[in-house]
Amino acid sequence: MMCDDFDRPLTHVVGVPDDGGDTITCLNSNGFLIPNFPNTRGIPGIRSAKMRDDDIILCTYPKSGTHWVLEIIRELAAGEIIEDDVMMDQTFLEMGPEERYADLQSPRILNSHLLMKHLPEDVINKKVKVISVLRNPKDVAVSFYNFAKKVPYLKYKGEWKNVLHPFFEGKFIYGSWMDYVSDWEEVKKTNPDLPVLTLFYEDLKQDQMREMRRMCEFLGVERTDDFLSRIRDNTTLTAMGTLKTKGDITRAVFRKGGVGDWKNWFTVAQNEWFDQLYQEKMADCHLQFKYTL
Ligand code: A3P
Repeated sequence: MMCDDFDRPLTHVVGVPDDGGDTITCLNSNGFLIPNFPNTRGIPGIRSAKMRDDDIILCTYPKSGTHWVLEIIRELAAGEIIEDDVMMDQTFLEMGPEERYADLQSPRILNSHLLMKHLPEDVINKKVKVISVLRNPKDVAVSFYNFAKKVPYLKYKGEWKNVLHPFFEGKFIYGSWMDYVSDWEEVKKTNPDLPVLTLFYEDLKQDQMREMRRMCEFLGVERTDDFLSRIRDNTTLTAMGTLKTKGDITRAVFRKGGVGDWKNWFTVAQNEWFDQLYQEKMADCHLQFKYTL
């Protein structure tokens, strides 16, 4: 295996082709693909990262509403409205070395798109609070495609018709949505005492106040409805798109922010292919995803 950097053992950059031969640039870290963030050390070092008892970790498959929920948690935990342009750079485990988040004030709000087997061992040992956000896979696929085309580090120029199959076959970063969701369901089943709050992007869209009340209960904080409605107003797609001034990344992340955009993208054949695959791969999954509101 080729190393491209002394600080990143067992990693190498790969261009993974879609069905038309256009590539998405990924970092292969010990056989698992993650984005080629400039300062990432890959996955192995993350296992030994030290967690604190009062850490909160937001776990999501990419494009499931991570930025939105991270912002909500930051404000719920702080008990105040935050108007800054902080995104995920400091708290995103796989984006760089542990020093970035080691000294953050408690409670630290961290996030990752990794599977449990890649996360710090302390998450299980210390029973760190996990907030898991899931989103219907059709909208995730559309969001991923649009993101991959805009974000500089994935360097993708392909077409929608060529991306859907390899995306759901898990060829790109973070593997397949199906494996991710199934893996987390298994983690919850085999670790019943791990505190995990599962949220759905669609439920947040439908009733953010209700979902924020659930989050308060899980986090053990009391916040008034008036305060929650101020968070809601401060975390709309428009508000966040204005506050977060990170150029290309901002434009790539804050796109449509709705439920059901997949209908504008999936052909009938793609939809049938996907529904069949879903039935095969997710037969044991009891989760109900909403594809429209
Ligand atoms: P779309 O591409 O479908 O618009 P992530 O943060 O995990 O990368 O997810 C990005 C997706 O969440 C994008 O979906 C984005 O528009 C949506 N999103 C980001 N901020 C949002 C917000 N404040 N409210 C609703 N959706 C939001």
